[in-house]
Amino acid sequence: MKTTELKKLDRQHVIYSWKAQGAVDPIMIDRAEGIYMWDTDGKRYMDGCSGLLNINIGHGNRHVLEAMKAQMDKLCYVAPSFGTEPKARLAEMVAEVTPGNLDYVFFTNGGAEAIENAIKAARWYTGRHKIYAAWRSYHGGTAGAITLTGDPRRWPAEPGIPGVVHFFGPYPYQCPFASRDEEECGRKTLDVLKTQIMLDGPKTIAAIFMEPIVGTNGIIIPPQNFMTGLRQLCDENGIVLVIDETMAGWGRAGKWFGIEHYGIVPDILTTAKGITSGYVQLGLMVLNKKIWEHFQEKPFTGGLTYSGHALACAAGIANIEVYKNDKLIENSAKMGAYLDKKLQELKGRHPSVGDARCKGLWACIELTSDKKTRAPLAGFGDSVRNVSAGFNKVLYENGLYLFAKWDFVFISPPLIINQGQIDEMVAAIDKGLDYTDSLIK
Ligand SMILES: Cc1ncc(COP(=O)(O)O)c(C=O)c1O
Repeated sequence: MKTTELKKLDRQHVIYSWKAQGAVDPIMIDRAEGIYMWDTDGKRYMDGCSGLLNINIGHGNRHVLEAMKAQMDKLCYVAPSFGTEPKARLAEMVAEVTPGNLDYVFFTNGGAEAIENAIKAARWYTGRHKIYAAWRSYHGGTAGAITLTGDPRRWPAEPGIPGVVHFFGPYPYQCPFASRDEEECGRKTLDVLKTQIMLDGPKTIAAIFMEPIVGTNGIIIPPQNFMTGLRQLCDENGIVLVIDETMAGWGRAGKWFGIEHYGIVPDILTTAKGITSGYVQLGLMVLNKKIWEHFQEKPFTGGLTYSGHALACAAGIANIEVYKNDKLIENSAKMGAYLDKKLQELKGRHPSVGDARCKGLWACIELTSDKKTRAPLAGFGDSVRNVSAGFNKVLYENGLYLFAKWDFVFISPPLIINQGQIDEMVAAIDKGLDYTDSLIK
C-alpha cells in the first residue's frame, strides 16, 4: 500500500496516545533492524530512544525471535492458574538478577499493571491505605498508576484513586528547596519528606513509590544521601519502599537495575519494557521474602488473564540471555560514559543547553533560555511554545528519532550501539540544538 493511502487509513481509524487526534501525523514505519527503522518510503531513522525506552537489545534480534518461534510452536498461552516452564524459568532468572531477596514474581502485561498490583500488595501487607509518590514522576496510564504520576498527564485523570499523596523528590538542577548543591538538595528534600510524613501520620502510610532515576520527567538522578535516608525512613516507620524500574531497569542505566547505583534494596520492585525489549508485552512485580510470606496465608487477590503468558515469558528468558551473552549491561556503562562526554561538549557549545545528565545509555538534555538563572526554555508541560515539536522536526529531517518534550531531550539508544553510531546521533542532536539556540532572544 502507498504511504499516502496507508496514512489516510490510519488517520480514519486509529486513536493515538496522549494527543488531540487532529494534530496526529505519524511517520509510517515499515521495518526495523538493530538500531535503525525504515519508513514506508524507505527513509532510514536511527531509533535513538529505543522505541519508548524498551527496545534495549535492538530490533530483530535473531536469538529472541528463534526462541519465540519455538515457544509459539509448542504453547502460546495457557490459563494463569497452570504452571509452565517459561514462567517458572523466567521467574528464577528474574530472582537471580534483581537485588537482595527480591525473589517472588507476579507477571503483568506492562509497567502500569505492575504498579497497580504493587499498590494493592503494599496496602494488604501493611493494612494501611496511604500511598506516597513523587512530583515529577510517571508510573503509567491506568487508574492507580496515573494517580501516582506527578506530572501533567495526571491532571485530566483527577481526582484519581483515593489515598495518594505527593511529595517533592530531589532535583539537584532545579532544587525545590533553593539549593545549587547536590548534597544539600538531597538533605533538604529528605528533611522536608520526614516532616511531611510526621505530620501526615507514619502509621497511615502503606508505601512510598519512586523511580530510582526519574525517567520521563527528565532523567533526574537523586543524590545518594536522599536514597540512603529514604530507605532508613521506610524501615523506621514500617513503610514499604516500592522502586519502579520500568524504565531504569534492564541495563538502561548501566547496571541491571537503576537502584543498584545506590546500594539499597526496595521491598517491592516493579518493571516492564526491557524484560522483553518490546518483542511482546510483559511486566513484573517482584516481592521480597517478608511480603511474600504474608501472602502464604492471606490471598494475593490480583489477577490478569495474561499473567505469565508463555510466549512473553519465553521472550523474557531469551532477552536475559542476550543481555548476558552479548554483555549489554557492560556496553551500556561503557558507551554511556562516551555519550556523557559528547553531551558535556554540546552543553559547552550550545547556549540553550542548561544541563546534560547521563547514567548508562540513558541521558537527558535540559533546555534553558538562560544558563545562569536556569530559566526553562519551554516550560513545565509546555504545549504553547512547542519547542520540542520544532526540535523533533530537525531531527527527523536528519534521520534521527528521539523522544523530546517540554524542556527535555531524551537520548536512550539500544544498548547494542557503538561509538561511531553515537557520533552519528550526536551530530544530528547538534543540529537540533542550533534550532533551540535560535529560540533564545
Ligand atoms: C517509570 C515508569 N513506570 C511505569 C510506566 C508504565 O509502563 P507501561 O506503559 O508499560 O504500562 C512507564 C512508562 O513509560 C514508566 O516510565
